[in-house]
Amino acid sequence: MTVPSLELNDGRSIPQLGFGVFKVDPDATERIVSDALEIGYRHIDTAAIYGNEEGVGRAIAASGIPRDELFITTKLWNADQGTDSAHAAIDTSLEKLGLDHVDLYLIHWPTPKRDLYVESWKALEQIRAAGKSTSIGVSNFLVEHLERIAGETDTVPAVNQIELHPYHQRPAETAYGHDHGIITEAWGPLGQGKYPLLELPEIVAIADAHERTPAQVVLRWHIQQGHVVFPKSNSRERIAENFALFDFELTPTEQSSISAMERGGRVGGDPAEIN
Ligand SMILES: NC(=O)c1ccc[n+]([C@@H]2O[C@H](COP(=O)([O-])OP(=O)(O)OC[C@H]3O[C@@H](n4cnc5c(N)ncnc54)[C@H](OP(=O)(O)O)[C@@H]3O)[C@@H](O)[C@H]2O)c1
Repeated sequence: MTVPSLELNDGRSIPQLGFGVFKVDPDATERIVSDALEIGYRHIDTAAIYGNEEGVGRAIAASGIPRDELFITTKLWNADQGTDSAHAAIDTSLEKLGLDHVDLYLIHWPTPKRDLYVESWKALEQIRAAGKSTSIGVSNFLVEHLERIAGETDTVPAVNQIELHPYHQRPAETAYGHDHGIITEAWGPLGQGKYPLLELPEIVAIADAHERTPAQVVLRWHIQQGHVVFPKSNSRERIAENFALFDFELTPTEQSSISAMERGGRVGGDPAEIN
């Protein structure tokens, strides 16, 4: 199965489907990421705060897959925002991953009360210039945070990674991204299992019509919306299921019926409040 790539605003490209490792137990990470790589995933989304960068690194090393065929993202944690601490944090992440660079480094949350995200973004510009991350971006940024970055720095983030699923579609952030060349990465693409998204009769009916699972339908909706997604699963069977998205297509009516499910249903933290 070939995963399509999307072009980033810095001329690089990103596989539209990856594997996320939030809440993957550090002791199980090497095995689970190895499963994902065997199944065919080439894009892994981790973060310093997940505590499992070493496991991701071990799976990469054991895979024998050439480095330039992989796309690895990690993130700067809130407590490490600031110039010196950001430089130290990327070095620590690279050491844990066993890599000399990542493909994408993100500011994990804007943490507006700290008021360090503009300074941290300038540090990420330096990290990119030093070759420690090929591309740089942000996560959980609201439009007001993106506007400040645009007004006070020279680089437009390549991506904004935000909570996004059929119950919480983030029209303001996705429109800003569309207008400014920022790719939207959807975290919690399945609603983190906290909503009965996969049991909704409309989703189940679409899945039955395509002889697919509800999870595949929701993930396919994301793909057709143009989002980058990296669903997480601990189960090899589901990891394989979530990878099989490119041999069927939702009709425009099915796509719009899922888009009509918006209900402002955030499952994670409020980016304006997390500090
Ligand atoms: N930037 C941020 O602040 C942020 C925040 C959260 C997440 N993320 C990133 O986004 C990634 C994905 O989001 P997420 O892990 O929070 O949530 P998610 O992918 O929406 O949901 C994961 C949940 O769905 C279940 N699941 C996975 N595949 C399934 C399937 N085919 N059928 C039924 N259930 C299935 C998993 O259970 P099992 O494991 O039991 O299969 C798990 O409980 C993360 O791993 C992380 O890389 C970023």
